[in-house]
Amino acid sequence: MATKQTIRDIQSLRGTRVFVRVDFNVPMDGATITEDTRIRAAVPTLQFLREAGAELVLASHLGRPKKGPTPDLSLGPIAKRLAELMGCEVDLAGDSIGDDVRTRAGALKPGGLLLLENVRFHPQEEANDSGFAKALIDDSGATVFVNDAFGTAHRAHASTAGVAPFVKQRVAGLLMEKEVHYLGLALASPPQPYVAIIGGAKVSDKITVIENLLPRVDSLLIGGGMAYTFFKAMGYNTAKSLVEEDKVSLAASLLEAGKGKILLPFDHVVASAFRADAETKTLPVTEIPENWMGLDIGPMTVEVFGKEIRKAALVLWNGPMGVFEMKPFAAGTFAVAQALAESKATTIVGGGDSVAAISESGLMNRITHVSTGGGASLEFLGGDVLPGVACLDEGETESQ
Ligand code: 3PG
Repeated sequence: MATKQTIRDIQSLRGTRVFVRVDFNVPMDGATITEDTRIRAAVPTLQFLREAGAELVLASHLGRPKKGPTPDLSLGPIAKRLAELMGCEVDLAGDSIGDDVRTRAGALKPGGLLLLENVRFHPQEEANDSGFAKALIDDSGATVFVNDAFGTAHRAHASTAGVAPFVKQRVAGLLMEKEVHYLGLALASPPQPYVAIIGGAKVSDKITVIENLLPRVDSLLIGGGMAYTFFKAMGYNTAKSLVEEDKVSLAASLLEAGKGKILLPFDHVVASAFRADAETKTLPVTEIPENWMGLDIGPMTVEVFGKEIRKAALVLWNGPMGVFEMKPFAAGTFAVAQALAESKATTIVGGGDSVAAISESGLMNRITHVSTGGGASLEFLGGDVLPGVACLDEGETESQ
């Protein structure tokens, strides 16, 4: 597989101004960062560049501002957190382009860090406007583009891909390299036996991922709300469980294509209402009281899924097994997280809610790779070429 150049491929970084796209789009409660994994994940790249004497201009978005500068979505709190994590000063510009950026970037010393204000305060960012992309590079004075924002690599925006033609070199950061390596492993020559676990509410979000993984995996375990669209296709009573009616025939064809590979839950935790204090029962999946809904996988399913995970050399997990935000329906998701942590296999957790479950259960350090990408990891696993990766310079060809 062709690989991309990384920051290790840059000949001399001392005094070189680098434009580093990071993904600091972290969950916030007002001005408080509630989860800082993405900021921590960027530190190795920033540390590497700093130690090599580069002058760092960092760019990120936060949220989805639609009306220009929005004080609530300023990167101010993030600059503070980054300074704590890096153990050095982080200057914050008042904008992502313009005179203030030029002055502050011009004052950078080797190893210095300047964080630009939220790039999405300019609508030209999401429009991938080439004038804006050029201004990002011209005003920061950068000659090298480092993309470490895997979480945003599925967006063809000015700061994630549009800047590429305006610099001398475009390379991946260490986080980007790691993400592409591990998620790439799940697609190209994965170690066998290879088990994928796919969950989440809707099958429609995961169709391309399931289709792309099916020919590659030895087994595909399905849990979460999406299992009910498959159950409907099998003719089971699903009562009030979440079913995507317009995806039932697609679920039937996936079951046909995945015969002998797809494993659905055997038992489930059902509830009288979508509430943590609702009445619950654990039943075989063929049984559900009228007007009730399935909200988690049951203990027998945990047992069978656990056995599959223990046999695997590679496990890929994306999407929770139930409504884990509510305690009575969290056991299935946390049991899968535990099984991954105990497994000797290479374990990869891709995207969003399953990452939150791993983080909540304190098992982050026992997983080989936890992706920082939500939509990006889904698109990557679905076989899409990510614009933020495609625009980087080609490196050596990796031997298979
Ligand atoms: C994410 O959180 O998935 C990325 O930061 C991309 O954000 P977006 O979905 O607003 O483009």
